[in-house]
Order: sequence, then C-alpha cells, then structure tokens
Amino acid sequence: MESSEKLAVVIMAAGKGTRLKSQRPKVLHEIGGKPLLAHVIAAASRIVPPGDIFIVIGHHAERVRTAMEPTGVHFVEQAEQLGTGHAIQCCRQAIAGYKNVLVLSGDVPLIRPETIDSLCRFHQSEQAAMTILTADPQDPTGYGRIVRKPPQPEVEAIVEQKALTAGQQNIAEINSGIYAFQTAPLLEQLGKLTADNANRELILTDVAGLLRTAGKRVVALLAADAAEVLGANTIAELVALDATLRAKAASRLMAQGVTIFRPESCVIDADVEVASDTVIEAFVQLLGRTKIGAGCRIRSYTVIEDCVLGDGVLVRQSCVLAGSAVSDGARIGPFAHLRPGSEIGEDAHVGNFVETKKAKLGKGAKANHLTYLGDAEIGERTNIGAGTITCNYDGVHKHATHIGKDAFVGSDSTLVAPVAVGDGAYIGAGSCITKDVPAGSLAVGRSRQIVKEGWAAAQRARRQKE
Ligand code: UD1
Ligand code: MG
Repeated sequence: MESSEKLAVVIMAAGKGTRLKSQRPKVLHEIGGKPLLAHVIAAASRIVPPGDIFIVIGHHAERVRTAMEPTGVHFVEQAEQLGTGHAIQCCRQAIAGYKNVLVLSGDVPLIRPETIDSLCRFHQSEQAAMTILTADPQDPTGYGRIVRKPPQPEVEAIVEQKALTAGQQNIAEINSGIYAFQTAPLLEQLGKLTADNANRELILTDVAGLLRTAGKRVVALLAADAAEVLGANTIAELVALDATLRAKAASRLMAQGVTIFRPESCVIDADVEVASDTVIEAFVQLLGRTKIGAGCRIRSYTVIEDCVLGDGVLVRQSCVLAGSAVSDGARIGPFAHLRPGSEIGEDAHVGNFVETKKAKLGKGAKANHLTYLGDAEIGERTNIGAGTITCNYDGVHKHATHIGKDAFVGSDSTLVAPVAVGDGAYIGAGSCITKDVPAGSLAVGRSRQIVKEGWAAAQRARRQKE
C-alpha cells in the first residue's frame, strides 16, 4: 500500500481451538519449533511495524499475551468468543484511524509476506471494499467456499461449510481467512452481523455478502500455492503443516549449497541457518536459533538446539548440543553432550561420553573420553584424560575449576572446585585434586601403591590348608 495510506494488521487469535482437543491455546501450538501465532506475527512484521499489529486474544488470553509480548505488538481482548466477526468488532477503536485493515488468522501460519503484499496491491488496484485471499486445495472440506459472481474477480458471498447447499458442495475455491478491507465500509457493516447463520456465531465471512448488498466491491485473489494458506484446526492438520514447513526449510538450505541426506528424516526448524558445503546426515535435528558454518559435517542422530557452530566442525553420531558455541575445526562426539553455556575452542576435541556445562575449552584442548566438565575453563592445548570429573557442586553452590594452557590431567582424576591448575602442570592419573596446582608442577593426589611380593601364592596355600 502507499505509505500515505496507513495499514493496520489484525490477527485473530482468540478462538478456543476446540478441534485440537488440547489444554494449550491453539495459536500457541508449535510448528517448525515456533508457535503458530509467532509465524503469523513474523510475516505481518515484514509488512507493517509491530505498533500497527493488533492481536485479538481471548481464550487463555494471558498465556498468549505473555508468549507474544516481546514482539512489541498490541493486544485487543475479546472476552467472549462469539465468532470471527465479533473478533473484528472488538477492534473497532484500534483500527478506526487506519484507511485499510489486513485481517490474518492466527491458525494460518504458512502465509508468506510476499503473498500478503500481493493481496494488498491487488486490493489497492481493484479499489475493493473487501479483498479475499482464496485457494484451490486438494480437499476443501471444512473451509468456507467462495461464490463467485462474474465478471472476474468479483465475489458474491462466502458460504461456510455448515451452510453449503447441495449445489455448492463441489465449489473448490476456499476462503483462506485472510482479507484486506477498506476500514470505513468494514466498520459500517460490522454492526449488522447477526448469529442467524448455520454457525450460530457473528462470522466475518458474512461481511462479504453484506458489503455486496450495500453495493460495495468484493473481490478475490487466488493464491498460487494452496499449501501456504492451509489452516491448523486439528492435530493432524498441525502435523501436516509442520512437515510442509520443515520440508521448505530443508529445501531452502539445499538451495544454498547445504547437502542434506534423507531430508525427510531430518527435523529443521524455520529459523535455522546453515552455510554452504555443510553436510547433514539422516535423522539429524537442528532446532531453535541454531546457526552452522560452512564445510561442517553433522552425522546421524545428532540434535543441535540454539547453538552456533563455526566452519569445518565435525559433530559425530548421536550428540546432543544445546545453547553452546563451537569454533572452527572442532570435533565433537560421538555420544557427547554439550549443555548450555559451553564454548568449545578452535580445533578442540570433545569425545565419547563427555558432558560439558558452562565449560570453556581453549584452542586445541582435548577431552576425548568419559568426562564431566562443569563450570570449568580449560586452557589451550590442555589434555583432559579419560574419566576426569570436575566436582563443581558442594550440595548448595556451584564452584569453578580453572585449568591453564598446555596442562595434562591424568585419567580418572577428580578436581574438587573451587580449584585452579596452572599452565603446563601435570596431574597424576587417579588423583583427587583439592588444592591449587602451581604452573609447571606435578600433583599426585592418591594413596601410594603397595606391592606385596609372593602374596598371591601364600594366600592360595593358606586356602588349601583350610
Ligand atoms: C475460518 C473461516 C473460513 C475459512 C477458514 C480458513 C469464519 C467463520 N470462517 O474458519 O471461511 O475457510 O477460517 O482457515 O471465519 N477467532 C477469534 N475469535 C472468535 C473465533 C475465532 O479470534 O470468536 C480466531 C481463531 O483463534 C482463529 C481464527 O479466528 O485463529 C479463525 O477461527 P477458526 O475457528 O479457526 O475458523 P475456521 O473454522 O477455521
Ligand atoms: Mg481455523
């Protein structure tokens, strides 16, 4: 739309979502790792600033408000959910100062900003009072249908599924629940809505017929891709939209030079970024705000959530990485667990059955086997032997372990925090380190070995006599 003609966006999100049979509000159900409503707000935010977006909330209003507040949008309460027409009635004041209003549905999440933009342009060029985005899906069951009236692109009415006459049953064109309105004629007709229809609600779709009766222009624009405007009214529909979204995310990455083997087996969230020449093997999950650099390999059964990986990183099979950063050339796994706050330095190695939490490993540091590093800092090139444990918890508080660079921690050592090990220090295998170890020294914290020569033979002889 022209910048001089301010546009408001209303997103209807107050409904109960009865068909989902869930305690969670419909619009907070997730696809692609994000609530339905967050997808719609993200698309709307590409068209207008958040200050011009109004979310109609009602069912579990506070939960929806709390979840979406950080986006900076406005909220309008619809205390009783009397239908989609009533939802817009509740927005009368909010939209009064805008020349046009775009209405989106909180349960139609795959809508792209480009399509919304086309709808707005078409609405403008057609000088219509109401412009409906329609689609031609494989199965129109459950959707409102469009009754066209020549000449193109005019519409006579929208008829809800429940109200379809025998003759209207085979209309293939459906209402997407996405519309552009001129505000003035919309406000004029809203007051005339009644619940005298098959839905027994004040339905926004009735506004189409009312506008026609008032001699206003109502037109429809057919969306090129029906998949973009499908609704999520049941769990089955929700799961289908999730699959569509993730398939799109995989296709987007592949178009950018990422190899994804068996993409149908991978779970990739909508906002994940991966650079070119990275290979993702089958059954990998990349979730949340994960960002992966170029030339990495992510092997099968690994789950990475909210992590940043540099270039040339290898994550072997069955690792779990969350809220962590991994620098260029690092090697992780197999079977490693990076918990939030872990920072793995360049070319560092974290091997099998190693768990890290708020642990920082310097460049080239290695913890290759059976280790727990929590609240720890490990210097460059330091080697952490198999079975090393940082004892970071005293039952009440967490304490830190600092290990300098070029140090060597022998296998099966425990480091009782707070404790520090200096640069280049050695710790003998099997040590329990409770005091700081100065740089360059050797610390051995275990009982001395005793050897009793001939003991075994003497023991056997004693048993035979008994
Ligand atoms: C609606 C349309 C239908 C269209 C379909 C597309 C109506 C009457 N029908 O049907 O023509 O084909 O969308 O997906 O509009 N909501 C409120 N307040 C209410 C009722 C609903 O905010 O009182 C919200 C819901 O949370 C939802 C949206 O409006 O996000 C649509 O409501 P829903 O009940 O899903 O309508 P559909 O039956 O899908
Ligand atoms: Mg719906």
